[in-house]
Amino acid sequence: MTAGSAAPSDGATVVVDYGNMLTGVLPSGGTDPERLVGEGDVARRFEAAFREVEDGRRSGEMGFFALPFDREAEARAREAARGVVGCDALVVIGIGGSALGAKALGGALLSPFRNELDAAPPDHGGERGDAQRSGPRLYVLDNPDPATASALLTRLDLRRTALNVVSKSGSTAETMANFMVAWDRLKRAAGEDAPRRLVVTTGRGGPLRRLAEELGTRCLSVPENVGGRFSALSAVGLMPAAAAGIDTGALLGGAADMVRRCESPVLRENPAGMVAALLHAADAEAGAGIHVLMPYGDRLRWLAAWFQQLWAESLGKARDRTGAIVETGPTPLPALGANDQHSVLQLLMEGPRDKAVVFVACRDPGEDVAVPRLFGDDPAVSYLGGSTLFQLLDGERRATADALRRAGRMNMTLTADRLDARSLGALIMLFQIAVVYAGALYGVDPLDQPGVELSKKLARELIARPAEARSRIPPPDPRWQV
Ligand code: PA5
Repeated sequence: MTAGSAAPSDGATVVVDYGNMLTGVLPSGGTDPERLVGEGDVARRFEAAFREVEDGRRSGEMGFFALPFDREAEARAREAARGVVGCDALVVIGIGGSALGAKALGGALLSPFRNELDAAPPDHGGERGDAQRSGPRLYVLDNPDPATASALLTRLDLRRTALNVVSKSGSTAETMANFMVAWDRLKRAAGEDAPRRLVVTTGRGGPLRRLAEELGTRCLSVPENVGGRFSALSAVGLMPAAAAGIDTGALLGGAADMVRRCESPVLRENPAGMVAALLHAADAEAGAGIHVLMPYGDRLRWLAAWFQQLWAESLGKARDRTGAIVETGPTPLPALGANDQHSVLQLLMEGPRDKAVVFVACRDPGEDVAVPRLFGDDPAVSYLGGSTLFQLLDGERRATADALRRAGRMNMTLTADRLDARSLGALIMLFQIAVVYAGALYGVDPLDQPGVELSKKLARELIARPAEARSRIPPPDPRWQV
């Protein structure tokens, strides 16, 4: 293992390169690598965090660790997917953790314009690259935005559409409102066939469970000990992924590998531990409390949005584990390379030193596009001819990481072998494990989200009892408007 890289010897799918977080590699600042090994304080602190998480894992509190090994749940999700695979479209209706997993998986692992492709004939023998799609078009309806819901539901042929409503609680207002709209229309279009085109993914109780029982429709379970933002590898993410033809076995296999790689209390051997320990140190010791996740490549855009929820909802807490007020937590900032080199990079390079950047890279892009040799007389652009789009994208990432390093700005890079189901499973699991370690390091409970309850309650009152709610939520005061 080289200094500054949590590279496994067994050809694992994701390598964490943290050199650019370290004193000595950076011209100033960073964490002294001596602190990461042996009796070093960061190593010791991590070991304590690791033990705390292991206790949570053993007690069953952290159910997400077990998901990659639950092949029965995978089989049930695949079985439900088979029931909708012949449909023209599958609309996943959920929000937050009940939507972002499907978005991250679909975004990363399906062809970017897959929804525009024609369906392959039933006996086609597999998806044909970018030419045809097997399985339904995949849409995710999360925000209760009338423009989106109306445009989508009007565009789809509802006689050939399936719905997957996803809500662990079964009572989330946005999800249930979107579902009520979509289900009503689907019933009218599909008639008696409608219940066969509905898959409910929910927790033990709640209105959705009851509805599924009444209709006799397929119902998948979200395990009680798996919270929304940790549910991408449960039925929540697996059913739509399987319906769209994603290899869920490989996805879980990559996640299982990552669980095993993170079974060591030795920081230098634990990739999720290194991510958590260095980002926590960056925040706690150097004031770098803004954690930028910047994947290079459009397909990982939704992974950054998923990470944002995972990091923010798990770590932003008013109270620590003892109940003391701490109002702590890093601010996750999703970005996209290379696009955001033309928007946020200036700030990352020269603004306040309150950020640490985590790049996500891919070693093998799978496909590449050659740039033709044009504009031979113009040195401003002729150097591009003969290269490839991936060489440019990846070269920009490496150049940006090094430019930040030279400016003394902390950054690390997670490199996936290739952008496939195995690597994505590994990346998702790496971040999930990292966030529970980070929870222990920040001293907070990473599994709850008490802060989102008040606005939910107030919104519910506004809709259900508008007159009463008006007296409790003051209307805008014209004195303070311009
Ligand atoms: O991570 C979480 O717990 C949340 O983002 C939930 O996923 C989100 O609020 C949706 O909840 P539910 O699945 O109960 O509809």
